[in-house]
Amino acid sequence: KASPRLRKVMGSLTRHLHDFCRENEITIDEYMAALDMINAAGKMSDAKRNEGQLLTDIIGLESLVDEITFTLADDAADAPTATAILGPFWRKDAPLRKMGETIVFGIEDGDNTLMHGKVVDFNTGKPIENAELDVWHTAPNGLYEQQDPNQVDMNLRGRFMTGADGLYDFYCLRPTSYPIPLDGPAGKLLGMLDRHPMRPAHIHFIISAPGYKPLVTQIFDRRDKHIDNDSVFAVKDSLVVDFTPKEGDAKAEFDLAYDFKLVSY
Ligand code: DHB
Ligand code: FE
Repeated sequence: KASPRLRKVMGSLTRHLHDFCRENEITIDEYMAALDMINAAGKMSDAKRNEGQLLTDIIGLESLVDEITFTLADDAADAPTATAILGPFWRKDAPLRKMGETIVFGIEDGDNTLMHGKVVDFNTGKPIENAELDVWHTAPNGLYEQQDPNQVDMNLRGRFMTGADGLYDFYCLRPTSYPIPLDGPAGKLLGMLDRHPMRPAHIHFIISAPGYKPLVTQIFDRRDKHIDNDSVFAVKDSLVVDFTPKEGDAKAEFDLAYDFKLVSY
């Protein structure tokens, strides 16, 4: 038996799509071109690549759903850490690493960074124990590890568990801005629209802890020239951060401090 929710959203989707076709007097050729694009995205997609997601993200759908879902005032200073889209490149089962370790392997040309901070309960301000920080970002060539045969498996990814103090620290790179993959229908569509494919430099996180709403988010480098012009519309003010020069650490040129404030169930 169809669920009421499914009936409602499918009815609404159908109505909007019919209206869209009528309003724009969509031709058979245009309709077939759209189907080709959807099928091409399907063919390219596998466990390592979600081209359908890319295709819908460039028209802002994932960011819109994120905004609808995150109902709290997300850009106030006194708010839980804002959410941001997951994007297509998360992988499950990233290696569990110890605090203070690096997620960078075999990359010589990156700006090494010590990222550190605290995971706290938004309401009480108290540190959260057993919070898992799942982190991932691209190499300086703009590629996630699964896109790049020259990187070791699970490079630039890791999971870290907090202790009773809620503190975390690990070495990563100051990330680089990069184009979303252009070799599929999403790239083709951007090209046809004369739109650029760049995403501002960012680091992804999923922070989860028992009793708390999992936080899917990204942080963005304030000095990136695409900070106001993300091709998938994910930037929020409260997620923009400053990398500061670091002295006296042979392992890092930059320091990045960021606290994550989670909401309990
Ligand atoms: C998208 C998100 C990312 O984080 C990324 O690195 C590339 C693309 C996206 O939303 O499509
Ligand atoms: Fe990304």
